[in-house]
Amino acid sequence: MKGTALITGATSGLGYEFVNMFAQDGFDLVVVARNQAKLEDIRSQYPHLNVTVITKDLSKPNAAKEVYEEVKAAGITINTLVNNAGFGLMGNFDDLDLHKQSEMIQLNITALTELTHYFLPDMKGNTTDSRILNVASTAAFQPGPMMAVYYATKAYVLSFSEALAEELAGTNVTVTTLCPGATKTNFASVAKVEKSKMFSGAMSSHEVAKQGYQAAMAGKRVVITGSGNKAGAYAAKFLPRSLAAKIAKYVAKEA
Ligand SMILES: NC(=O)c1ccc[n+]([C@@H]2O[C@H](COP(=O)([O-])OP(=O)(O)OC[C@H]3O[C@@H](n4cnc5c(N)ncnc54)[C@H](OP(=O)(O)O)[C@@H]3O)[C@@H](O)[C@H]2O)c1
Repeated sequence: MKGTALITGATSGLGYEFVNMFAQDGFDLVVVARNQAKLEDIRSQYPHLNVTVITKDLSKPNAAKEVYEEVKAAGITINTLVNNAGFGLMGNFDDLDLHKQSEMIQLNITALTELTHYFLPDMKGNTTDSRILNVASTAAFQPGPMMAVYYATKAYVLSFSEALAEELAGTNVTVTTLCPGATKTNFASVAKVEKSKMFSGAMSSHEVAKQGYQAAMAGKRVVITGSGNKAGAYAAKFLPRSLAAKIAKYVAKEA
């Protein structure tokens, strides 16, 4: 009995890979996203597991509370929380739609924070080891001109998650932050970054999710996928922030 993993953004990309990895390891699942048909597909793929579908737009206020209340009403105990749902947008900050950028903050930051807040007390009360896996990005390590809000949301996810990991040191709950670089999912078409230099050499979603899954299972704090991405994140620590921002602007341009 492995317990139950709640995965946001379960219908596509990294989230769908996580679904398959947790399912293959024998976890029951709570899958959350907007596309109900795809969520139901997931349920039908794993008839031997308890798969609970929650169709929710996490960019709406109170969505996280509603997810928590649905899970509690169903009598489900969560021992793994995967805050994966997120999106980005490419363009000059003032050209991009403000409402879409606010939804991005609500999804990438607020929903992730609130879901963690609601589920953490229950997870601390679990008699077994529990884990939180938050999906950030290599965008977390420097400012990102042309994707200014997205990069800032991921800096928040990394900082928040590392702080929480330290707060929870010595408890039964670990917090892992996954920092992927460009990865082959629907992210690039949603963000309109398919043609940018940063997406040449994108990694497979399976490989990236596998590294995140293994790191979470091992209770590691931060995992950066790919040797080039690791080197870039390391270099960003030592470069002046203004130079790191210039490099990020360069790789955002079309290849
Ligand atoms: N791919 C990359 O290059 C890359 C790099 C670094 C970090 N990341 C991060 O990885 C995470 C997963 O993204 P991905 O690459 O797998 O992209 P993806 O293929 O576009 O998947 C995004 C998932 O999030 C869900 N989602 C989007 N908006 C939502 C909303 N408002 N409410 C609930 N669910 C929502 C989508 O499902 P529905 O449409 O059904 O709602 C989908 O399941 C994100 O946090 C992203 O920032 C991606």
